[in-house]
Amino acid sequence: MSTGRFITLEGTEGVGKSTNLRFIESVLRQHQISYQLTREPGGTPLAEEVRELLLANRDEDVADDAELLLVFAARAQHLARVIRPTLAEGRWVLCDRFTDATFAYQGGGRGLSKEMISQLEAMVQRGLQPDLTILLDLPVEIGLARASQRGDLDRFENERVAFFDQVRNAYLERAAADPERFAVIDASGTLEQVQQQIAAVLERYLQEQAGE
Ligand code: TMP
Repeated sequence: MSTGRFITLEGTEGVGKSTNLRFIESVLRQHQISYQLTREPGGTPLAEEVRELLLANRDEDVADDAELLLVFAARAQHLARVIRPTLAEGRWVLCDRFTDATFAYQGGGRGLSKEMISQLEAMVQRGLQPDLTILLDLPVEIGLARASQRGDLDRFENERVAFFDQVRNAYLERAAADPERFAVIDASGTLEQVQQQIAAVLERYLQEQAGE
């Protein structure tokens, strides 16, 4: 049986990830693709507990490398219990964020070295990479204005504009370095415009897969 495909969705706060995730699901369903929707940090009971630890606002200042290791601890469990088994069954994985978020948030935002993140990536992923990554891109101020309407902000959402500028730049740098895997979507238009772009990317990708 052929292995499934691994699709990830990325972006900074307020870019419309949840709405567009549902749209991606609808396209996969139209094509009768069997997929597992999941997210990071999280995706298994243990990894969801780690997510809560990571997102909680707390008085204690969280060390950057402790944050990084928690992210990868959750990822190791998620890979072992959900991502690898699903792909091995020939089903697709649609994941709301993955390691590009670590390069963007812990690398760009917190300023941790790419080399350190790459070492953990190699240890935990052993070469596994997403097949397609859709990056929703939006100027940070617009995204934060949207996100702030949601009410209670988590530990990341409480960061400042400068932090998210670094996150966005790190995402765009990664996308530029790997244009084969990344599709960058301009998320500043109307929902319809954004979804037209996403549909075009997915249709092209699905055609390529069918041709293989
Ligand atoms: P969410 O906003 O997509 O629910 O993700 C939760 C937060 O976790 C988001 O602010 C980004 C952050 N995050 C990291 O800092 N590093 C990571 O590797 C991942 C997957 C998420």
